[in-house]
Amino acid sequence: MGNAKSGEGLETLRALRARALLGGGEKRIEQQHARGKLTARERLALLLDEGSFQEVGALATHSLSDFGLDRQRYPGDGVVTGFGKISGRRVAVFAQDFTVLGGSFSEVQANKICRIQDLARESGIPIIGLKDSGGARIQEGVRSLAAYGEVFVRNVLASGVVPQISVILGPCAGGAVYSPALTDFVIMAAGSSMFLTGPDVIKSVTGESVTAQDLGGPAVHMMRSGVAHLEAESEAAALRLTKHLLSYLPQNNSEDPPQVAPEDAVERMDAALDALIPASENTPYDVRDALAAIFDRGSLLEIHPQYAPNAVVAFARLDGYSVGIVANQPAYMAGALDIDASDKISRFIRICDAYNVPIVTFVDCPGFLPGTDQEYRGVIRHGAKIIYAYCEATVPKVSIVLRKAMGGSYVAMSSRQMRTDMAFAWPTAQIAVMGAEPAVRVLYRDEVAQAADPAARERELIAEYREKFFNPYRAADVGQIDEVIEPHETRPRLVRALEILRTKVQQNPPRKQGLIPT
Ligand code: HXC
Repeated sequence: MGNAKSGEGLETLRALRARALLGGGEKRIEQQHARGKLTARERLALLLDEGSFQEVGALATHSLSDFGLDRQRYPGDGVVTGFGKISGRRVAVFAQDFTVLGGSFSEVQANKICRIQDLARESGIPIIGLKDSGGARIQEGVRSLAAYGEVFVRNVLASGVVPQISVILGPCAGGAVYSPALTDFVIMAAGSSMFLTGPDVIKSVTGESVTAQDLGGPAVHMMRSGVAHLEAESEAAALRLTKHLLSYLPQNNSEDPPQVAPEDAVERMDAALDALIPASENTPYDVRDALAAIFDRGSLLEIHPQYAPNAVVAFARLDGYSVGIVANQPAYMAGALDIDASDKISRFIRICDAYNVPIVTFVDCPGFLPGTDQEYRGVIRHGAKIIYAYCEATVPKVSIVLRKAMGGSYVAMSSRQMRTDMAFAWPTAQIAVMGAEPAVRVLYRDEVAQAADPAARERELIAEYREKFFNPYRAADVGQIDEVIEPHETRPRLVRALEILRTKVQQNPPRKQGLIPT
């Protein structure tokens, strides 16, 4: 009897499991494939180490009946949740299943996701969310709205404790956008979209016709809004990128990121660096050429590459250790800092600080972008974020002035006073309150006007100013620069500096909130 009973039990379980594997059913899976999209389970299979997935909540269903929901009960209720491994490291995952009611977000989905979030935070495990959803399940009314709140609060409590990565693989509409926006990184696959109000709502409210891609496709969020950090040409590429990004991060904020076996000699020195800075001070160059020559070969992963390209932020490795890079980009807007670059830089500094990634800053900046547009839109409070973030960060910080370090940008970009641990400069560094021409105009307007040959006198004064300030030696003289180094020495000097600082301990005063300008 007992055996017969347990045999029946097994059959029931197997039948339920088989049903759960089908999500919204075979027809819906075909439709998903026809749209060029993978199912939630196919995505998880690509993301996780083979055989590592441990599902939790596969059989949960809703118990509602409004608007015909009683005919639409699917095991799992439109999200697959659980734990798995990536390169042997534990991760928590949830993947929305568009085949079930368009992946719409429900009370049951929230219960499942929240459980994963709680377990992951308590055990110090990164959380990866794969998004493909039409937003709040309309039929559930306030239940699905409240459900979002449950997830948001957990996103916030996990923020800076465990890495959270959102991968957008289809529509991410309405309330669905805020959970990704609260996580550390948003990766968008080609064809995916994120928007608060969809094309239909926009049409009915404003009469404007706009496609989902024009409204919130990867191009929009990578270049204009800054909502997305990385994009990929396909779902599979987005999942590969997710794994790659994770490799630079620790499991949680109490650990250091893993060191990979270094494949690049510490003492490798690239002579090309000595000729990188153009002879003419206004000639641009691409700072990424310097980064590629200095850090471990092939290790650079740029974040937000198309947003505010006047600044570069990236993860890389140095002697196999994970580092965060902040750099001005002279190839774009002469590397001037503006509102968007300030947001990009300050956010990245805080991510590095949260996850124990040392920060290396490369400075070549003529200053903050002048003009009414920037002033009216609040470049003061945005620029202040960079200062705030550097001052607040307690991870090892090393800076290198490559060329211009003018005025506010010198101070803001990881100067010694920003609690920077080690400040280097190349011989091409120019550290001054402002550029030579405006400085001479402010200081010597009358003298130049009264000179027998004003133009000649102005040239003379400009040359004198350059002679005095356009070098790193005054800054080294007063201890603002610790060492002036030859460009080709940068790699070994950085490796040694970060080696010294590896055990750095620094604390901030206890407080409930630091009020970063926003
Ligand atoms: C219930 C939904 C749904 C939703 C889609 N579906 N979104 N069901 N609630 N929010 C269902 C559809 O009815 C359809 O079911 C199936 O999912 C597939 O959707 P399609 O429209 O056929 O797919 P597609 O053409 O690819 O369009 C996908 C889409 C579109 C762009 C996401 O469905 C859409 O615009 N949905 C609504 C988006 C939206 O405005 N969400 C905001 C909700 S308000 P059938 O059975 O017909 O195939 C919100 C506020 C929360 O989220 C705020 C919290 C802070």
